[in-house]
Amino acid sequence: AERIPLIVANWKTNKKVAEVYDFLQEIQGKLPDANKVKVGIAAQDIYLHEMVKQSKELKLPVSVIAENVHWADEGSYTGETSPAALADIEVSGSIIGHYERRKMFKETNGSVGLKVTASLRNGLIPIVAIAEDTTRYNPDDEDMAPLTEIAVGLAGVDRQRAENIVIAYEPAWAIGAAETPSLEVIEHAARVIRKSLAILFSQEVADKIRIQYGGSATPENSKDILGLEDIDGLLIGRASLEPTAFLSMVNDAI
Ligand code: G3H
Repeated sequence: AERIPLIVANWKTNKKVAEVYDFLQEIQGKLPDANKVKVGIAAQDIYLHEMVKQSKELKLPVSVIAENVHWADEGSYTGETSPAALADIEVSGSIIGHYERRKMFKETNGSVGLKVTASLRNGLIPIVAIAEDTTRYNPDDEDMAPLTEIAVGLAGVDRQRAENIVIAYEPAWAIGAAETPSLEVIEHAARVIRKSLAILFSQEVADKIRIQYGGSATPENSKDILGLEDIDGLLIGRASLEPTAFLSMVNDAI
C-alpha cells in the first residue's frame, strides 16, 4: 500500500506568537510537493486559528494540528478544546495521548479512545501517540507494551474511518533524550503495531494507517529512520523548533 509520509512538528509548549510567524515565513516556498510528503505543525491552541490563516496567505502546504483535543463537541468542560471548534477553524487534526499528557496530566487509554472517536467524527486526523513506558525491550520479544495501548485505546473506533488514524510510536525513554532505539527495534515495533492494527481492524485498513516514529529524531538520524519499511513519518519535538533542521527532515522523507 502506498502511504504518503507525514512529518509533524510538535512544538509542545514553546514559541511566542512572533516566533510562530517567523517560522512560517521562513519555510515559505521551501516545502516539497504535498503529493510526496505531507507536513503538519502542532502548536498551542492559542496559535492555531492564526496559523491556519497565515498558512493560507503564504500558500504553505501545511496542516495545522492541535496537541490535544476534548471528546465532546460542546458543553460544560471548562478549559477543554472542542473537536468541532477545531474543525470549524480548519485545524486538520490533533495529537492524542502524547506520553507527556499520559504521564503529567493523567491521560488514559480510555480518554484516548474517546478523543480518537470524537476526532474522526469531526473529520480531524487523530495522531495517536503510543509509548513504551517501561524498560528497553528485546526486539525478539513479541509481547510488547504498545500492543496494550493500541488494543485498549483504539477498541470501539469506527472501522470505516480507522484508516485516517496516524500512530506515533514514541518510546518514553527516547523523548527529550539524546538517543533513539536502534533501527532494528524501531522497525520491529512498527511491524508489531501494524500487525495489531490488522487484528483490530483489517489488513487492508492496517496497510493504509501511517506509523510515525518520535523521540529524539534529528537531521542526523531522520533519513535512516524514514528509510524503514513500516515507518511512514516522524513526530518531531526539539528538532522541529528550528526551520532549517525541520526542512531538512521533511526532505529526508522523499
Ligand atoms: O512529539 C515529539 C516527541 O515527544 C519527541 O520529542 O523530538 O524532543 O525527543 P523530541
